[in-house]
Amino acid sequence: MPTETNIFKATNATMTFGHGKKQVTAVDKVNFTIADEEIVSLVGSSGCGKSVLAKMMLGLYHPTSGEFFFKGKPITDQRAHWREVQPVFQDPFSCFNQFFTIRSQLKASFGILNTKPSNKEMEERVDQALLAVNIKPPEIEGKYPFELSGGQMQRMLLARIFILRPKVLIADEPTSMVDACVRANILDYLMKLKEELKMTIVFITHDIGLAYYVSDRLFIMHKGQIVEHGSPDDVTLRPKSQVTLNLLDDIPDIHREWIK
Ligand SMILES: Nc1ncnc2c1ncn2[C@@H]1O[C@H](COP(=O)(O)OP(=O)(O)OP(=O)(O)O)[C@@H](O)[C@H]1O
Ligand SMILES: [Mg+2]
Repeated sequence: MPTETNIFKATNATMTFGHGKKQVTAVDKVNFTIADEEIVSLVGSSGCGKSVLAKMMLGLYHPTSGEFFFKGKPITDQRAHWREVQPVFQDPFSCFNQFFTIRSQLKASFGILNTKPSNKEMEERVDQALLAVNIKPPEIEGKYPFELSGGQMQRMLLARIFILRPKVLIADEPTSMVDACVRANILDYLMKLKEELKMTIVFITHDIGLAYYVSDRLFIMHKGQIVEHGSPDDVTLRPKSQVTLNLLDDIPDIHREWIK
């Protein structure tokens, strides 16, 4: 059985969709453990199964075969799971309701917690969270999601993480909608969050350069499988698979300097 220090453990975990000729194996017999407070990046090209694996970690999909454990147990109680494991998704607009103000939705995030703080404390914690992601509270006062840019909305998702203080963060391409400068800021916030909240982070990206910069360990994915894993130095400086070599070729110039 998995030990207590394992946050996630996958044993031949597989996720297939559809039947017969239309069957897709999005995640194919993956085996791994992720330890408490580790930052692991899932890196791979489009369609390799990163988001499906992320959704298994969030308990949105259960493996069609094999086993998937969170802290030694299968994920059964979704709500309890989300108190501890929270996502930041590729498309922040899909995570907020367009018909409610941002502030009211940030406050509503407290609803998932076992005990809701007083109204005053909620307002204060929302303000602190906004400041933590470099947004002055008046900037979003009375505003709806459609009135903010993609980058600002991604920071709203991070503000929600500050509010909820989950044990585990699943960050699926959290910087896809922002320019290089804001991207560096968001990564800094993520690191700050990790330090403050002692979180475990699963970071998902196409960009192995970015993964190198933020992670303790890299998992390289291809066609649903983890084809290579190891420390950022091992994987990027001594790559063993062609898939990793191809990903290294694709590194945007801006991130090349991070890999010495
Ligand atoms: N709900 C679903 N039903 C059927 N097939 C799906 C479903 N979700 C994902 N897939 C398929 O599983 C495979 C992996 O998809 P996934 O979204 O995990 O890719 P990804 O690595 O996140 O790609 P990207 O980098 O473009 O986000 C793809 O072939 C996709 O079409
Ligand atoms: Mg994806």
